[in-house]
Amino acid sequence: MLRSIKGLKDILPQQTPQWRYMETIAHTLATQSGFSEIRIPIFEFTELYARSIGGATDIVEKEMYTFPDRDGSSLTLRPEGTAGVVRAVLEHHLLESPSTRKLYYLGPMFRHERPQAGRYRQFHQFGVEAFGTEDPLMDVEVIALLWRFFCSLGLKDLTLHINSIGNPQDREKYIQELKRFLSTKLEVICGNCQRRYSTNPLRILDCKVPICQQATQEAPTLFDHLSLESATHFQSVLDELTSIGIPFTLNYRLVRGLDYYSRTTFEITSPHLGAQSTIGAGGRYDGLVELLQGPSTPAIGFAVGLERVALLLPEQVSSPQPPLFFVAGFGKKAKPIAFKLLHELREAGIRADTDYKSTNLKSLLRSADKLGASYSIILGDDEAHSQTVIIRNMTTKTQELMKLEEISQKIKSLN
Ligand code: HAM
Repeated sequence: MLRSIKGLKDILPQQTPQWRYMETIAHTLATQSGFSEIRIPIFEFTELYARSIGGATDIVEKEMYTFPDRDGSSLTLRPEGTAGVVRAVLEHHLLESPSTRKLYYLGPMFRHERPQAGRYRQFHQFGVEAFGTEDPLMDVEVIALLWRFFCSLGLKDLTLHINSIGNPQDREKYIQELKRFLSTKLEVICGNCQRRYSTNPLRILDCKVPICQQATQEAPTLFDHLSLESATHFQSVLDELTSIGIPFTLNYRLVRGLDYYSRTTFEITSPHLGAQSTIGAGGRYDGLVELLQGPSTPAIGFAVGLERVALLLPEQVSSPQPPLFFVAGFGKKAKPIAFKLLHELREAGIRADTDYKSTNLKSLLRSADKLGASYSIILGDDEAHSQTVIIRNMTTKTQELMKLEEISQKIKSLN
């Protein structure tokens, strides 16, 4: 039997209500806060990701789905949304407005990671990006939207981890000092981190290998090396978060796995998910637009991993549905009349269904129950002959006989 690819998941009919629920809340909250939806392609030229995310990151080094196009150009399935959104806003001149540009997106992303619970090779993100201001209030607005999204879904016990990784000059100075410190630990840290020492030493700080965590416990923190400007900006973010009542934990080790970040970075974790506990993350990326040859434009955003959020939702998400009318037509004469009635109900905007596999009344009523119908409209050859139908309340099991021509009126009163 053909099977799906490792690390990919089907979202089955019993799970789609959960997904629609998450998506509806994402659309509603983002729109409420003035973000407009953008839909970008799921693949781009590889160079876009290599330049934005950074050549020495895990994503670019080993997780991208990259393939040659027929003309030889290198294409990559999007591993995240930020780079594509920046490319799109530049290509379509969306930054040429005096006000901030706020965009959001929903859709699949692709990373060749080792699959495990909460980590997939195709996963879905809800993300937002706000361009054009470095005001710390925008940082807080974005974080507040992320927090509100999770609270609206009823998620509990969440922790907002926050840090400032400063501007590139702050980081350059800090990295010198960090490398001096790490040079004494090179023999004990893991092989991956030994390599990162020269390519991306900051990432050693959030390596999950216990021996590396222990070795870097006393490492100098970037936080202590922030310029006055970065430190003031960060303090304003923290003050405003406090003033609107969003709790946070300062986490000096939070450096994030993508190179484009600067200043504020954040992640939200849940204790109910095991190793893949980060359900949403983001930060400022004040230099990325310029790096991609746009005008100097500060920006900030986040992305939520929707599979991880789905793991935290109750299995049954109740979405209120109008009552279902099941049309139970059986017998040669009755079936076409029943089908016409079904069609008319649907045309009138009424939720209606039938089951062509069931051919007698007993099995039709069983199907009606299975589908959760509130009423069945029973129409056999006898009824067809007398131009009547029976309407059966599936909960009380009471039945009423009425003229076929009266049924639409009756259904409208029950709907
Ligand atoms: P990220 O931290 O790489 O950031 O991903 C954001 C979220 O996507 C993660 O916190 C996690 O919930 C989810 N995620 C990532 N990889 C996987 C995976 N393999 N399986 C399931 N879920 C996953 C970004 O993508 C940035 N673009 C966020 C951003 C937007 N920063 C600024 N703007």
